[in-house]
Amino acid sequence: MAGLIPQYFIDDILARTNIVEVIDARVPLKKAGTNYKACCPFHNEKTPSFSVSETRQFYHCFGCGESGSALRFLMEYEHLSFPEAVEELAHNLGLEVPHEKVNGTEHVARIKQSDSLYQLMQQVDQFYRKQLREHPQSQKAVAYLKQRGLSGEIAAEYGMGYAPPGYETLLKAFSDTADKELANKLTELGMLIKKDNGGCYDRFRDRVMFPIRDQRGRTIAFGGRVLGDDSPKYLNSPETPLFHKGKELYGLYEMRKALRKIDKVLVVEGYMDVVALAQFGVRYAVATLGTATTADHLQRLFRLSHEIYFCFDGDRAGRDAAWRALNNALPVIREGLQIRFMFLPQGEDPDSYIRIYGKEGFEAELAKAKTFSEYLFENLCANIDTHSIDGRAQLVEQARPLISQLLPGVYRQMMIQQLAQLARMEAAEIDTIFQQQLKPGATSRAQVATLSAQHGQDMPVKNSASAVNVQRNSMKTGLSPVRMAIMRLLYMPTLAQLVKMPNQLTELELPGIDILCQLLELLHEHPHINCAAILERWSALEDKAQSYPHLVKLAQWQPEVADEASLKAEFLGIMESLYSQASEMRLEHLLTKSNHGKLNDEEKHELRKLTQRMT
Ligand code: UTP
Ligand code: MN
Repeated sequence: MAGLIPQYFIDDILARTNIVEVIDARVPLKKAGTNYKACCPFHNEKTPSFSVSETRQFYHCFGCGESGSALRFLMEYEHLSFPEAVEELAHNLGLEVPHEKVNGTEHVARIKQSDSLYQLMQQVDQFYRKQLREHPQSQKAVAYLKQRGLSGEIAAEYGMGYAPPGYETLLKAFSDTADKELANKLTELGMLIKKDNGGCYDRFRDRVMFPIRDQRGRTIAFGGRVLGDDSPKYLNSPETPLFHKGKELYGLYEMRKALRKIDKVLVVEGYMDVVALAQFGVRYAVATLGTATTADHLQRLFRLSHEIYFCFDGDRAGRDAAWRALNNALPVIREGLQIRFMFLPQGEDPDSYIRIYGKEGFEAELAKAKTFSEYLFENLCANIDTHSIDGRAQLVEQARPLISQLLPGVYRQMMIQQLAQLARMEAAEIDTIFQQQLKPGATSRAQVATLSAQHGQDMPVKNSASAVNVQRNSMKTGLSPVRMAIMRLLYMPTLAQLVKMPNQLTELELPGIDILCQLLELLHEHPHINCAAILERWSALEDKAQSYPHLVKLAQWQPEVADEASLKAEFLGIMESLYSQASEMRLEHLLTKSNHGKLNDEEKHELRKLTQRMT
């Protein structure tokens, strides 16, 4: 069935393929810093100038200029057509290439396909539950759950089951004959693992099974616990078409079913914790699935309640996890939303704690949870001597990348005030310092224009003497903020989620601004594509193909400091300067127009708002 290969599938295989493996199998690569190197297969050379980036999943030759994703590499190197290259990568991943029929029925087909996956998962779920009751060896699983203190009711409510020992349990349970399609589906669902020789075997064996359900209550994945002390203690489903770890939360469905009104949500670390808390009447707990709490998680939870508590073990690992959660919460939190941190005594987790102290004891502890700002400043000050000037300066420095991630508004202002108190400074001073470090103002537009002209870019010179917000970096490197923003987006595409849709920016007559806007739009529409997928799309679209070589160049950029917090802060700083530049231009435009008395009501209103913000 020939037809278009759907774009989502191309994005998906580019996200799952490792270009380093694809190329290394054909052109042996050597590690060089963060990248890999080889002599370029596309032109004759003696010293290697062919470089492969694992983070960005694409290759580039500094000698001949060839570049692209894993797909492009296969097309060039093996002389494959585009569909053949897709076929090759999909085959490596054990995936079948779906073909869209141009008439649009493909949409229906895709839904049917995923429906059948949900149904199969449902069958697996029921099978495991039945095994907990009936399998000859299920007694030890039941005994284990009893010994952990779980009641039968709560085990049933959470749909707990038992995956029997043996390597072919699921296949045998669902089919008498060797059913290839079934095996493929179960593999796609993460329930079977493919062997090198083509066969497959059960992922979960002799484990207590915790079904992970989506918002609608459909089982989409499992966590499986060993019955004893073996390791790994828990096995989890891999990412599948139905299951995305960074988005799902264990116990969310059960919580919504149990509670009519959700006052608060408690995020804990373990499956067992959620179930034990529920058994003791704390019905508002959910667990992340062996990952840190993501901004996605938080956004989802804040839709249910404005009060979120995190509960962590009191040990080192717990404190680290808490700090990670705090960092991920920064771009999400604002006034009206509350995040609190609860720390249990060393060696306890919610499961053990509530079994000793009961619901009352647990909630008493919960009431002592630290607020977001308490925890943030306490942690920052922990190793700093705030009695010395040096220490206080250090405090402001360390708070900067964190506080800069907060959305502008009352909450951010209050955090700055609190920092000011601790640092014994004026809030306004701190504000100024943060602004300066992100975008040193005090540069006249004429100066910037001269500088950027030296670098071959023309920036419209307006006769306003007002300051322009352009990064100090941009002054040093001669790179425009637009380029700096694009570079960072290509390096870490998720940054796009930190800013709103760029409509006002299109007014800026800066080189590259349309590319930046298109890029932001693309990433807002497809938040999970990686750099290789971006470039692939770009080269394929007629209106974008022209800017493809620019984009490839900008994608070479390596950050000096690659940690997420600094990248986020930098990016936000750059975007902020662009937004304020856009407002300024808009302001000038409106002022000119108003001098000629041509403003309509809407524009008058806009002008009033803009002038307020500027002064
Ligand atoms: P914990 O080690 O705190 O386990 O891991 P727990 O929930 O208290 O488990 P019990 O009480 O010993 O049964 C917390 C979470 O981390 C993930 C699981 O999601 C687990 O619930 N984890 C842990 C794994 O994915 N794999 C592991 O091997 C261990
Ligand atoms: Mn535990």
